[in-house]
Amino acid sequence: MKLIRGIACFAMVALLTPTALFFGVPVVVEAQQNPESKLPLYLGTAWYPEQWPESRWDEDLTLMEKAHVHFVRITEFAWSTMEPSEGHYDLDWVGRAVRLAEKHHIAVVLGTPSAAPPAWLTSKYPETLRTMEDGRKDQHGNRQQFDWSNAKYRELAGKMAEQMAIRFGHDPNVIGWQIDNEYAQESYGAETKRQFQEWLKARYGTLDNLNTRWTTSYWSQTYSAWSQIPIETRYGNPGLLLSWRRFVSDTWRSYQKVQLDKIREHSEPRQFITTNMMGFFDAYDHYVVSQDLDLAAWDDYVGTGHLDPVYNGAAHDLTRGFLRKNFWVMETQPGFVNWSKDNNALDKGEVRAMAWHDVGHGADAVSYWQWRSALNGQEEYHGTLVGADGTPVPLYDEVAQLGREFEKAGPALSGTEPHSEVSLLHSYDSRWAINWQRHNQAFDPKDALISYYGPLRALVHSVDIVSPSVPLSRYKLVVAPALNLLTDAQANNLMEYVRGGGHLVLGQRSAMKNDDNGLQPERQPGLLANMLGGRVEQFYALDHDVPIAGDWGSGSGKIWAEQLSVKDPQARVLMRYGKSNGWLDGQPAAITKAVGKGSITYIGAWLDEKTMEAAAKWMVATSGIHPPGVELPKGVDLYVRSGNMKGGGQKTIWILINFGKDVATVSLPSPMTNVLESGRVGSVKLDPYGVTVLSNE
Ligand code: GLA
Repeated sequence: MKLIRGIACFAMVALLTPTALFFGVPVVVEAQQNPESKLPLYLGTAWYPEQWPESRWDEDLTLMEKAHVHFVRITEFAWSTMEPSEGHYDLDWVGRAVRLAEKHHIAVVLGTPSAAPPAWLTSKYPETLRTMEDGRKDQHGNRQQFDWSNAKYRELAGKMAEQMAIRFGHDPNVIGWQIDNEYAQESYGAETKRQFQEWLKARYGTLDNLNTRWTTSYWSQTYSAWSQIPIETRYGNPGLLLSWRRFVSDTWRSYQKVQLDKIREHSEPRQFITTNMMGFFDAYDHYVVSQDLDLAAWDDYVGTGHLDPVYNGAAHDLTRGFLRKNFWVMETQPGFVNWSKDNNALDKGEVRAMAWHDVGHGADAVSYWQWRSALNGQEEYHGTLVGADGTPVPLYDEVAQLGREFEKAGPALSGTEPHSEVSLLHSYDSRWAINWQRHNQAFDPKDALISYYGPLRALVHSVDIVSPSVPLSRYKLVVAPALNLLTDAQANNLMEYVRGGGHLVLGQRSAMKNDDNGLQPERQPGLLANMLGGRVEQFYALDHDVPIAGDWGSGSGKIWAEQLSVKDPQARVLMRYGKSNGWLDGQPAAITKAVGKGSITYIGAWLDEKTMEAAAKWMVATSGIHPPGVELPKGVDLYVRSGNMKGGGQKTIWILINFGKDVATVSLPSPMTNVLESGRVGSVKLDPYGVTVLSNE
């Protein structure tokens, strides 16, 4: 029976699959059938066997095995090697790589290669090349030069995925699939425009309806034929801009689905299907594109500088929110990248701390891009785990330590995930709507989200980031920073949450726009104004900070200020503006109203850090949340994962990481098991970048 290292403890059932080829010779291999036969934590790396002589592969895999690498992701750019000419597929070398990896107890994730079409393809079918926004055709020589809406390209990419799935869909050493790589580039040619117009027709039904909902009488934009409607990405009618982004999202989804359907048809359900996304990247709606996937995954790069645990943590939680379960970090930097402004390396110990930070936020896999640099190509300077000479670089030992630790901590972390009583609402519609009309350049909706996320996470140690369309009753507190565009269904979802006893906090610019990115005919927060018992009288882009004072102490607001009013005697003013532009002087800056056992609050100011911390404490207390009582020294973060114990009861895992510059000591509320070392401990000492994993078991 094939054993993947570290999982021998799980019961596995052997299944005979007589399909595999070993060095070209058919052999009977034994597959694992037990759903638990996957590892609780994977360490991985991106490996490109097609770039190296086959005689080198064994040495690479030996070094990986020594570093406790549990999976390799391969083939995601190998189209020209897997289909050297149209219809002539060569997957034998992939088969040999998969078998050799298996010999080293290393599982495989296969990437479909559609992010890098071969030259024969784009020269034979030039219509598959994308049209750039300026009307020029992209060309071969880089990657992502394809048109995601092109039927021929989809057909050819689908065939490639199908061939791979037929060959490896039952391979016991293939654990999953990644479709394409970092969806990003759109195409703007005539055929795409025609599809966009069809999409609009399907959405709006009639031109009258579209004209009304986009208010096209403004600037004589009225359309009398679908074919008149252009593509606009920046300065067009807000309804047109939003529709294009939604079309882009649906087109990525259908592009992905062509390959996904082929893989599903020919593979075993135990093989997951994912794609690698890019954190806060917002050129498409990730909730739309994720919904057909089994697993959400993202590529986590710091670029210049060092890990910002708050910003990076929010990107993890965002990704976890796509499918509302644990996710994978499919790529991360082994020390440094090559594409940023200044490609400094992470400090010694920081790579390990970053990986545990990933796990703390719900990552079940961390994979380094890449194993070894190609000897030529655009990324010669990127960080790797072995050098151009094929021997380990200094970081290799740190990653090997991580691999050992993942194996040791795996059983404790198995079946656990972050569970949060607090969620932040995030929507692409709202981010786009604000970014097209920031009104104050400094108003970045991502920053608005982070300004709430940081202090809330510091208090409760786990925050979900989810779409406003999901059921919310599991949360005690729901915070919606900058939820600018709110559909009626979403507004009803929020009101139902509050009526059910939930505590809702709305941030600046909330509920100003409707489903077509048009203005709500009511003042903010639109449909929620009645429940709030107050509203926004006026918004102001600020050219200077404004003083604020009230229940959360005295401080200041920046960037944006909303002058609120109270209409219902049951609503209460929490904060007021001090002397500023005259309009705001003495006016409400934050108001709240109890609704049954729940409440609704509106915060119209962009609070300074100290005031936001006080506001966050108030939100947590008002919502009846009781976070674990632990005193954390500055720079130390706590991440909590929990799950059911095998024999009943709740298993709780604490991951403590010291991002500070000094040695720190944390006293635990009660003794816990030190998972990476051993024994029960009542307090923990952490060096800078130090990590401790604790369990209540
Ligand atoms: C992205 C890509 C990889 C590689 C890395 C380099 O994440 O997916 O192929 O180019 O960047 O950081």
